[in-house]
Amino acid sequence: MSGTHQGSRDQANPLRQLRLDQLRRRTSVKWREYPDDVLPLWVAEMDVPLAEPVARAITDAVALGDTGYSAGTAYPEALAEFARRRWGWDGLAVERTALVPDVMHGVVEALRLLTGPGDAVVVNCPVYPPFYGFVGYAGRRIVEAPLGDDLRIDLGTLEEAFRVARSGGRPAAYLLCNPHNPTGVLHTADELTAVAALAGRYGVRVVADEIHAPLVGVGARFVPYLSVPGAEHGLSLMSASKGWNLAGLRGGLLVAGPAAAGDVARVPFEVSVGTSHLGVIAHTAAFRDGGDWLDALLAGLDDNRRLLAALLAEHLPAVRYRPGQATYLAWLDCRGLGLGDDPAAVFLERGRVALNSGLAFGTGGVGHVRLNLATSPELLTEAVRRMATAVT
Ligand SMILES: Cc1ncc(COP(=O)(O)O)c(C=O)c1O
Repeated sequence: MSGTHQGSRDQANPLRQLRLDQLRRRTSVKWREYPDDVLPLWVAEMDVPLAEPVARAITDAVALGDTGYSAGTAYPEALAEFARRRWGWDGLAVERTALVPDVMHGVVEALRLLTGPGDAVVVNCPVYPPFYGFVGYAGRRIVEAPLGDDLRIDLGTLEEAFRVARSGGRPAAYLLCNPHNPTGVLHTADELTAVAALAGRYGVRVVADEIHAPLVGVGARFVPYLSVPGAEHGLSLMSASKGWNLAGLRGGLLVAGPAAAGDVARVPFEVSVGTSHLGVIAHTAAFRDGGDWLDALLAGLDDNRRLLAALLAEHLPAVRYRPGQATYLAWLDCRGLGLGDDPAAVFLERGRVALNSGLAFGTGGVGHVRLNLATSPELLTEAVRRMATAVT
């Protein structure tokens, strides 16, 4: 596909641009949650400078005082074009989108559109912890469908969860994470097609959280859920937030399949008006002009995945790591280390390195940690060194 991974030759690796003392001056949660002797590789923020086209768009807006309410369709147009270029998908229709304040509030809104209070929402655990919190906040109830031992969606388990979710005849939704956080697994077109067929058979509505979609390894291809046959009733949440590190510039898009146009049309003005205009400007610039920067990042993340595998093999061979093809997250099975149910607590206390505890990710998280590898090779190396000192 044209344009994909072209820019990495010309652009410097964004993961190698910042020194530790510069990063420690940041005031975001990654750098402020723990004391300065702790190396933070936890929450999904990246140790990168802002992509130049994004920085320019925001700086121009600030210079102009362009800090009012958002208007127009530049954001979905930029995303539709990105989807065409990167994923070969031309099914993102601007008129079937709605601005949402951010992805998780978009998920809440989608669940409110499709289900009623107390209805079931199926998730594939272990999964991004806020899925539990936000489903509860939306007044819905979680039904877990654990991933298989291969960390992929288990269709038999999913079918049983759909059956349970729909028992009593109430509406139900399936909150799919595509690509999957924390494993970095990229679902295939065949898997997504089977999911769509199953959802259709049980009358379960699919809400796909596709926030990590731009973050796919070199040579791999992201498949948008809405692009597979049978997904016409689905909704997707997309954003430039993870791909370009824009969590502080909030914004997201709810995207509907052709048969869900009526649902997205019901997103209230009161929700869409909550999207930050500066966020919209930043996300639009990222999708429109941030391709070369993204390619350089993706090449750097591939290097880091390989580096992490090599470091673990050398210093912590009892840790099981299956590098995913997407996201910048690594899901580490530490049960072989004998550190108990919550190895992240031990790594923090003894090694002074902050990772996410697997316990928050639902069933399947015991004895696991999530490591954020969107940092420099030097800090990644230092993190594994610290983890190893916690064990010896
Ligand atoms: C799967 C997933 N969904 C949503 C979010 C958060 O998105 P937002 O900040 O736009 O709500 C994250 C952040 O890491 C994530 O990993």
